[in-house]
Amino acid sequence: MALVVAGEGSGRLATGIAKALGAPLFGLEFKTFPDGEDYARLLGDVRGQEVVLVQTTFPPARLWRLFLALDACREAGATAVRAVVPYLAYARQDRVFQPGEALSVRVVAETLSRLAAQVVSVDVHKDEIRRFFRTPFTSVSASAPVAAELGRLGVQIVLAPDAGARVRAEAIAKQVGAQHDHLEKKRISSEVVEVVPKNLDVRGKRVAIVDDIISTGATMAKALEQLRRNGAREVYAVGVHGLFLGDAVAKLTAAGAREIFATDTVETSHSRVSVAEPITEALRASVPAVPRP
Ligand code: R5P
Repeated sequence: MALVVAGEGSGRLATGIAKALGAPLFGLEFKTFPDGEDYARLLGDVRGQEVVLVQTTFPPARLWRLFLALDACREAGATAVRAVVPYLAYARQDRVFQPGEALSVRVVAETLSRLAAQVVSVDVHKDEIRRFFRTPFTSVSASAPVAAELGRLGVQIVLAPDAGARVRAEAIAKQVGAQHDHLEKKRISSEVVEVVPKNLDVRGKRVAIVDDIISTGATMAKALEQLRRNGAREVYAVGVHGLFLGDAVAKLTAAGAREIFATDTVETSHSRVSVAEPITEALRASVPAVPRP
Protein backbone atom coordinates (compact mmCIF):
# COMPACT_ATOMS: atom_id res chain seq x y z
CA MET A 1 0.00 0.00 0.00
CA ALA A 2 1.24 3.51 -0.73
CA LEU A 3 2.11 5.98 1.99
CA VAL A 4 1.29 9.65 1.57
CA VAL A 5 3.83 12.28 2.57
CA ALA A 6 2.66 15.86 3.07
CA GLY A 7 5.22 18.33 1.76
CA GLU A 8 5.34 22.01 2.55
CA GLY A 9 2.19 24.01 1.78
CA SER A 10 0.00 21.03 0.88
CA GLY A 11 -1.05 19.65 4.26
CA ARG A 12 -4.80 19.85 3.64
CA LEU A 13 -4.63 18.36 0.17
CA ALA A 14 -2.27 15.57 1.28
CA THR A 15 -4.66 14.74 4.13
CA GLY A 16 -7.56 14.54 1.65
CA ILE A 17 -5.59 12.29 -0.69
CA ALA A 18 -4.44 10.00 2.16
CA LYS A 19 -8.03 9.72 3.37
CA ALA A 20 -9.32 8.90 -0.10
CA LEU A 21 -6.58 6.30 -0.63
CA GLY A 22 -6.99 4.93 2.90
CA ALA A 23 -3.23 5.39 3.30
CA PRO A 24 -1.08 6.48 6.25
CA LEU A 25 0.14 10.08 6.20
CA PHE A 26 3.57 11.37 7.20
CA GLY A 27 5.10 14.81 7.26
CA LEU A 28 8.50 16.29 6.59
CA GLU A 29 10.63 18.64 8.60
CA PHE A 30 12.13 21.55 6.70
CA LYS A 31 14.50 24.15 7.98
CA THR A 32 16.86 26.75 6.61
CA PHE A 33 20.46 27.04 7.75
CA PRO A 34 21.92 30.47 8.53
CA ASP A 35 23.59 30.53 5.11
CA GLY A 36 20.21 30.07 3.41
CA GLU A 37 20.57 26.39 2.51
CA ASP A 38 17.47 24.25 2.99
CA TYR A 39 17.23 20.96 4.87
CA ALA A 40 14.56 18.26 4.59
CA ARG A 41 13.95 15.21 6.76
CA LEU A 42 11.20 12.64 6.47
CA LEU A 43 9.21 12.07 9.66
CA GLY A 44 8.24 8.41 9.20
CA ASP A 45 9.43 5.04 7.95
CA VAL A 46 8.90 4.51 4.22
CA ARG A 47 11.38 1.64 3.68
CA GLY A 48 10.06 -0.88 1.17
CA GLN A 49 6.93 1.18 0.51
CA GLU A 50 5.68 3.21 -2.41
CA VAL A 51 5.31 6.88 -1.52
CA VAL A 52 3.01 9.60 -2.84
CA LEU A 53 4.60 12.94 -1.99
CA VAL A 54 2.22 15.91 -2.20
CA GLN A 55 3.79 19.36 -2.44
CA THR A 56 2.81 22.52 -4.21
CA THR A 57 5.44 24.76 -5.75
CA PHE A 58 4.02 28.15 -4.89
CA PRO A 59 5.88 30.20 -3.87
CA PRO A 60 8.44 28.89 -6.38
CA ALA A 61 11.15 28.55 -3.69
CA ARG A 62 9.20 25.46 -2.66
CA LEU A 63 10.39 23.77 -5.81
CA TRP A 64 13.82 23.27 -4.28
CA ARG A 65 12.26 21.87 -1.10
CA LEU A 66 10.22 19.49 -3.26
CA PHE A 67 13.42 18.19 -4.86
CA LEU A 68 14.97 17.64 -1.41
CA ALA A 69 11.80 15.93 -0.15
CA LEU A 70 11.77 13.54 -3.10
CA ASP A 71 15.38 12.68 -2.46
CA ALA A 72 14.67 12.15 1.25
CA CYS A 73 12.01 9.57 0.34
CA ARG A 74 14.35 7.77 -2.00
CA GLU A 75 17.20 7.84 0.50
CA ALA A 76 14.90 6.44 3.21
CA GLY A 77 14.29 3.35 1.08
CA ALA A 78 10.94 4.01 -0.66
CA THR A 79 10.51 1.57 -3.55
CA ALA A 80 9.11 4.33 -5.75
CA VAL A 81 8.04 7.92 -5.24
CA ARG A 82 5.18 9.55 -7.08
CA ALA A 83 5.18 13.35 -6.95
CA VAL A 84 1.85 15.16 -6.74
CA VAL A 85 2.70 18.76 -7.62
CA PRO A 86 -0.74 20.39 -7.70
CA TYR A 87 0.58 23.78 -8.82
CA LEU A 88 3.61 23.51 -11.07
CA ALA A 89 5.85 26.55 -10.89
CA TYR A 90 7.46 27.92 -14.06
CA ALA A 91 4.78 26.29 -16.25
CA ARG A 92 4.15 29.59 -18.02
CA GLN A 93 7.73 29.76 -19.33
CA ASP A 94 6.89 26.89 -21.67
CA ARG A 95 8.74 28.21 -24.68
CA VAL A 96 11.45 30.64 -25.60
CA PHE A 97 9.59 33.88 -26.21
CA GLN A 98 12.73 35.94 -26.87
CA PRO A 99 16.14 34.70 -27.97
CA GLY A 100 18.42 33.94 -25.06
CA GLU A 101 15.73 32.94 -22.56
CA ALA A 102 15.82 29.81 -20.42
CA LEU A 103 13.10 27.25 -21.10
CA SER A 104 12.33 27.14 -17.38
CA VAL A 105 9.61 24.49 -17.36
CA ARG A 106 11.94 22.05 -19.12
CA VAL A 107 14.46 22.38 -16.28
CA VAL A 108 11.68 21.67 -13.77
CA ALA A 109 10.32 18.72 -15.77
CA GLU A 110 13.71 17.14 -16.32
CA THR A 111 14.68 17.42 -12.66
CA LEU A 112 11.35 16.00 -11.48
CA SER A 113 11.73 13.17 -13.97
CA ARG A 114 15.03 12.18 -12.38
CA LEU A 115 13.58 12.20 -8.86
CA ALA A 116 10.05 10.80 -9.28
CA ALA A 117 8.52 7.67 -10.82
CA GLN A 118 5.44 9.68 -11.84
CA VAL A 119 4.37 13.32 -11.72
CA VAL A 120 0.73 14.32 -11.24
CA SER A 121 -0.20 17.98 -11.54
CA VAL A 122 -3.47 19.89 -11.98
CA ASP A 123 -4.59 22.00 -14.95
CA VAL A 124 -1.12 22.93 -16.12
CA HIS A 125 -1.06 26.14 -18.13
CA LYS A 126 -0.49 24.27 -21.40
CA ASP A 127 -0.71 20.53 -21.78
CA GLU A 128 2.16 20.49 -24.30
CA ILE A 129 4.68 20.74 -21.46
CA ARG A 130 4.26 16.99 -21.04
CA ARG A 131 6.85 16.55 -23.76
CA PHE A 132 9.56 17.72 -21.35
CA PHE A 133 8.90 14.93 -18.84
CA ARG A 134 10.84 11.69 -19.05
CA THR A 135 8.64 10.04 -16.43
CA PRO A 136 4.86 9.44 -16.69
CA PHE A 137 3.11 12.79 -16.39
CA THR A 138 -0.59 13.49 -15.80
CA SER A 139 -2.29 16.87 -15.67
CA VAL A 140 -5.54 16.27 -13.82
CA SER A 141 -8.55 18.47 -14.51
CA ALA A 142 -10.11 20.46 -11.68
CA SER A 143 -13.30 20.87 -13.73
CA ALA A 144 -15.47 18.41 -11.79
CA PRO A 145 -15.00 19.88 -8.29
CA VAL A 146 -15.16 23.46 -9.64
CA ALA A 147 -18.35 22.62 -11.57
CA ALA A 148 -19.93 21.10 -8.46
CA GLU A 149 -19.41 24.36 -6.59
CA LEU A 150 -20.66 26.53 -9.48
CA GLY A 151 -23.73 24.29 -9.72
CA ARG A 152 -24.39 24.83 -6.03
CA LEU A 153 -24.18 28.60 -6.62
CA GLY A 154 -26.67 28.41 -9.49
CA VAL A 155 -24.27 29.82 -12.10
CA GLN A 156 -25.92 30.21 -15.53
CA ILE A 157 -22.92 31.21 -17.67
CA VAL A 158 -19.29 30.08 -17.38
CA LEU A 159 -16.92 32.50 -19.06
CA ALA A 160 -13.28 32.18 -20.00
CA PRO A 161 -11.27 35.43 -19.78
CA ASP A 162 -9.76 34.71 -23.20
CA ALA A 163 -10.01 32.28 -26.10
CA GLY A 164 -7.12 30.20 -24.73
CA ALA A 165 -9.11 29.33 -21.60
CA ARG A 166 -12.33 28.50 -23.50
CA VAL A 167 -11.94 24.71 -23.42
CA ARG A 168 -11.85 24.70 -19.61
CA ALA A 169 -14.93 26.97 -19.40
CA GLU A 170 -16.76 24.72 -21.84
CA ALA A 171 -15.95 21.54 -19.89
CA ILE A 172 -17.10 23.13 -16.63
CA ALA A 173 -20.26 24.59 -18.18
CA LYS A 174 -21.24 21.17 -19.53
CA GLN A 175 -21.00 19.66 -16.06
CA VAL A 176 -22.96 22.54 -14.52
CA GLY A 177 -25.59 22.49 -17.25
CA ALA A 178 -24.76 26.16 -17.96
CA GLN A 179 -23.86 28.11 -21.09
CA HIS A 180 -20.28 29.03 -21.87
CA ASP A 181 -18.44 31.74 -23.75
CA HIS A 182 -15.17 33.62 -23.74
CA LEU A 183 -14.26 37.27 -23.62
CA GLU A 184 -12.68 38.97 -26.58
CA LYS A 185 -11.53 42.44 -27.49
CA LYS A 186 -14.04 44.46 -29.48
CA ARG A 187 -13.29 47.84 -31.02
CA ILE A 188 -16.12 50.21 -30.11
CA SER A 189 -14.54 53.28 -31.72
CA SER A 190 -11.10 54.36 -32.85
CA GLU A 191 -10.27 55.18 -29.21
CA VAL A 192 -12.27 52.60 -27.27
CA VAL A 193 -11.62 48.87 -27.12
CA GLU A 194 -13.84 46.80 -24.81
CA VAL A 195 -13.47 43.22 -23.66
CA VAL A 196 -16.88 41.62 -24.15
CA PRO A 197 -18.39 38.11 -24.26
CA LYS A 198 -18.06 36.83 -27.82
CA ASN A 199 -21.59 35.45 -28.20
CA LEU A 200 -23.70 35.61 -25.06
CA ASP A 201 -25.69 38.37 -23.42
CA VAL A 202 -24.88 38.38 -19.69
CA ARG A 203 -27.58 40.89 -18.71
CA GLY A 204 -29.35 39.79 -15.52
CA LYS A 205 -27.35 36.55 -15.42
CA ARG A 206 -25.34 34.82 -12.73
CA VAL A 207 -21.90 34.43 -14.30
CA ALA A 208 -18.62 32.77 -13.27
CA ILE A 209 -15.32 33.75 -14.86
CA VAL A 210 -12.94 30.80 -14.64
CA ASP A 211 -9.21 31.13 -15.32
CA ASP A 212 -6.38 28.69 -14.69
CA ILE A 213 -4.37 31.12 -12.57
CA ILE A 214 -5.32 34.20 -10.57
CA SER A 215 -1.98 35.85 -9.93
CA THR A 216 -2.11 39.64 -9.53
CA GLY A 217 -5.82 39.54 -10.32
CA ALA A 218 -5.44 42.06 -13.16
CA THR A 219 -6.90 39.78 -15.88
CA MET A 220 -9.85 38.78 -13.73
CA ALA A 221 -10.53 42.33 -12.47
CA LYS A 222 -10.73 43.65 -16.02
CA ALA A 223 -13.19 40.91 -16.98
CA LEU A 224 -15.28 41.53 -13.85
CA GLU A 225 -15.57 45.25 -14.48
CA GLN A 226 -16.67 44.64 -18.03
CA LEU A 227 -19.31 42.09 -17.07
CA ARG A 228 -20.72 44.36 -14.40
CA ARG A 229 -20.89 47.12 -17.04
CA ASN A 230 -22.69 44.70 -19.35
CA GLY A 231 -25.35 44.17 -16.70
CA ALA A 232 -24.48 40.74 -15.23
CA ARG A 233 -26.45 40.20 -12.02
CA GLU A 234 -23.73 38.38 -10.05
CA VAL A 235 -20.18 37.57 -11.07
CA TYR A 236 -17.99 34.95 -9.39
CA ALA A 237 -14.20 35.07 -9.79
CA VAL A 238 -12.78 31.57 -9.92
CA GLY A 239 -9.21 30.40 -10.43
CA VAL A 240 -7.98 26.83 -10.42
CA HIS A 241 -4.71 28.08 -8.93
CA GLY A 242 -5.27 31.06 -6.65
CA LEU A 243 -1.95 32.80 -5.97
CA PHE A 244 -3.66 36.08 -4.98
CA LEU A 245 -0.52 38.22 -5.03
CA GLY A 246 -0.43 41.58 -3.26
CA ASP A 247 -3.81 43.29 -3.29
CA ALA A 248 -5.39 40.84 -5.76
CA VAL A 249 -8.36 40.02 -3.52
CA ALA A 250 -9.09 43.70 -2.82
CA LYS A 251 -8.83 44.41 -6.55
CA LEU A 252 -11.35 41.67 -7.39
CA THR A 253 -13.73 42.78 -4.66
CA ALA A 254 -13.54 46.37 -5.88
CA ALA A 255 -14.19 45.16 -9.43
CA GLY A 256 -17.48 43.67 -8.25
CA ALA A 257 -16.81 39.97 -7.56
CA ARG A 258 -19.66 38.47 -5.62
CA GLU A 259 -17.36 35.70 -4.36
CA ILE A 260 -13.74 34.79 -5.06
CA PHE A 261 -12.46 31.28 -4.80
CA ALA A 262 -9.91 28.75 -5.99
CA THR A 263 -8.92 25.14 -5.39
CA ASP A 264 -6.42 23.78 -2.87
CA THR A 265 -3.57 23.42 -5.38
CA VAL A 266 -2.28 26.50 -3.54
CA GLU A 267 -3.72 26.48 -0.04
CA THR A 268 -5.15 29.85 1.02
CA SER A 269 -8.27 31.06 2.79
CA HIS A 270 -9.90 31.09 -0.69
CA SER A 271 -9.29 27.36 -1.35
CA ARG A 272 -12.93 26.43 -1.31
CA VAL A 273 -12.74 23.48 -3.71
CA SER A 274 -10.55 20.41 -3.27
CA VAL A 275 -8.79 18.58 -6.07
CA ALA A 276 -8.13 15.55 -3.83
CA GLU A 277 -10.66 13.41 -5.67
CA PRO A 278 -9.42 13.82 -9.27
CA ILE A 279 -5.83 13.41 -8.08
CA THR A 280 -6.72 10.22 -6.21
CA GLU A 281 -8.49 8.88 -9.31
CA ALA A 282 -5.37 9.58 -11.41
CA LEU A 283 -3.14 7.83 -8.86
CA ARG A 284 -5.44 4.81 -8.78
CA ALA A 285 -5.48 4.61 -12.57
CA SER A 286 -1.68 4.78 -12.81
CA VAL A 287 0.38 1.86 -13.88
CA PRO A 288 2.55 0.41 -11.09
CA ALA A 289 5.59 2.57 -10.59
CA VAL A 290 8.88 1.06 -11.66
CA PRO A 291 11.18 0.87 -8.63
CA ARG A 292 14.39 2.81 -9.02
CA PRO A 293 17.65 0.90 -8.64
C1 R5P B 1 -2.33 33.76 -18.42
O1 R5P B 1 -1.95 33.26 -19.45
C2 R5P B 1 -3.07 32.99 -17.38
O2 R5P B 1 -3.98 32.10 -17.95
C3 R5P B 1 -3.78 33.93 -16.42
O3 R5P B 1 -4.78 34.64 -17.12
C4 R5P B 1 -2.82 34.90 -15.81
O4 R5P B 1 -1.73 34.21 -15.26
C5 R5P B 1 -3.49 35.71 -14.74
O5 R5P B 1 -2.56 36.60 -14.22
P1 R5P B 1 -3.00 37.91 -13.45
O6 R5P B 1 -3.90 37.47 -12.32
O7 R5P B 1 -1.72 38.51 -12.95
O8 R5P B 1 -3.70 38.80 -14.41
